[in-house]
Amino acid sequence: MSMLRLDNLTKIFGGLTAVGNVDFTVEEGSITGLIGPNGAGKTTIFNLITGVYKVTEGKILFQDEDITNKEPYMVAGKGITRTFQNIRLFKKLSVYNNVLTACHANSNYNLFESILRTPRCRKQEKKLQNKAENLLDIMGLLDRKDVIANNLPYGLQRRLEIARALALNPKLLLLDEPAAGMNPDEEVQLMNLIAEIRDKFELTVFIIDHHMELIMGVCERMMVLNFGCKLAEGTPMEIQGNPKVVEAYLGVEA
Ligand SMILES: Nc1ncnc2c1ncn2[C@@H]1O[C@H](COP(=O)(O)OP(=O)(O)OP(=O)(O)O)[C@@H](O)[C@H]1O
Ligand SMILES: [Mg+2]
Repeated sequence: MSMLRLDNLTKIFGGLTAVGNVDFTVEEGSITGLIGPNGAGKTTIFNLITGVYKVTEGKILFQDEDITNKEPYMVAGKGITRTFQNIRLFKKLSVYNNVLTACHANSNYNLFESILRTPRCRKQEKKLQNKAENLLDIMGLLDRKDVIANNLPYGLQRRLEIARALALNPKLLLLDEPAAGMNPDEEVQLMNLIAEIRDKFELTVFIIDHHMELIMGVCERMMVLNFGCKLAEGTPMEIQGNPKVVEAYLGVEA
C-alpha cells in the first residue's frame, strides 16, 4: 500500500507555479527523499500535504484516503507530522517540556480530572512523562533535558524538533532539511538516527534536503523537483546518473 500519493498536485501563487502537476508515491515503510535546487517547490509540497496551503489543483491521498485541503490539525490527527525548515520550538521552555507538551496532544483525560488529579490522570501523566524521557533518550537529548531550548546548539534544536514530531505518534514523518546548519559529522549521525527511528517506530519518512549525497545514503527512493515540476524519480543510483538532474544541480549540460 502507498502511504502517500500526490496526484497531479499543483500550487499557483499569483502567477507563479510553485508546484506543477506533480505525481508521486511514497511507499509505506520507506525513507523517501525530496531534493531540488532553491525555490524548487519542496517546502510548498510539505505545506500542501499538511494543509498549511490550499491546493490549487490535484489530490493528496494518505493511505488511500483523500486528505486534500484538510485543516492542519486534522492532517496531524491522521498521523502526518513534520518539522520545519525554520526551527519552531517553544524557545523559552526546557527541552523536556518541549517534548512533554507535544506528548500531551494525545492525552485523553479531561480538565476536571486534571484539576482533581484523579488516579487515572496521574497514571496517564506518568506515562506521558516516561514517553517524553524515552524520546529524549532516543534523540540523544536526555542529558540536556533541563536546558532551555533556545540555549541548545543549533544541531540539537533540530533533533528536539524531531522528538516533538515523534511525540504525536506519526505514521508519516515529514522532515524539511533536518540537517541544515549541522556540521558534516552531525549530518551523518542524524541520517543514521533517522534510519533507526524509522525502524523503531515503523514509520514512513519523507525527507527534504539540499545535499544530494547526504540523503542518497539514507533514502530508498527519491524525487527531484525543479521549478515546481518533477524532474526525475527513482533510486539514488538512478538519480545520480540522470543527466537532467546533474544539469539542474550544476547548471551545466551533462
Ligand atoms: N506563501 C507564498 N507566497 C508566494 N510565493 C511563495 C509562497 N511560498 C513559496 N512561494 C514561492 O514558491 C516557490 C517555491 O518555494 P519553496 O519554499 O517551496 O521552495 P524550496 O524548494 O523549499 O526552496 P528552498 O530550498 O530554498 O527551501 C518559490 O519561488 C517561493 O518564492
Ligand atoms: Mg524549502
